[in-house]
Amino acid sequence: MAQLFDRRHGCGEVPGFDRPRGGPYAKALFQRAFAALQSSPLSVMTVRPLVILPDPVLRQKSEPVTTITDEIRVLARDMIETMYDAPGVGLAAIQIGVAKRVVTIDTNKEEEARDPTVFINPEIVWASEELRVYDEGCLSIPEFYGEVERPDRVKVRYMNLDGETVEKEADGLLATCLQHEIDHLNGVLFIDHLSKLKRDRVIKKFAKAAKRDAA
Ligand code: NI
Repeated sequence: MAQLFDRRHGCGEVPGFDRPRGGPYAKALFQRAFAALQSSPLSVMTVRPLVILPDPVLRQKSEPVTTITDEIRVLARDMIETMYDAPGVGLAAIQIGVAKRVVTIDTNKEEEARDPTVFINPEIVWASEELRVYDEGCLSIPEFYGEVERPDRVKVRYMNLDGETVEKEADGLLATCLQHEIDHLNGVLFIDHLSKLKRDRVIKKFAKAAKRDAA
């Protein structure tokens, strides 16, 4: 039997967190982000609108970051803010429409202190043979969950905001999250790891919702 984990700590949104899906929500986020941009200096974090399934942007492959510029620093900061606002434990830049290989993760529980990590150009350099099943979610696929089997432990190599190359071993939720977010950088979603039947069903559902929102 697959080991289920507390969904509140999953790679995605918090179930039961009541939030409207799709268009109006994205629009509200945009308005908020725009207002913040107009009224504040660059030092203020900005929540950016999330890209939601079935937006083809989510299937784009993200480009590596070559230098840490102010643009990358602002992107990372906004991603952290957007991730906490959602709330979620991980976010890839493509989920706010930026095709750059940047990921933010904070697996701390909500009642714990915030401890975000920014992973630039992350790559899995080692993965354990042992697998683990987690019930995953995704901020781009709100209120949908599915069990995904992935390596239990991984070693990841990435660049930090100081431009240093770092290697880190991860297990449990962090390992799952890293693999989920790195998938995003390659245009892969967690639903791609589910059966075709389940995947087709959720894509259809979200396509319908998007159509309804556009109408
Ligand atoms: Ni996701």
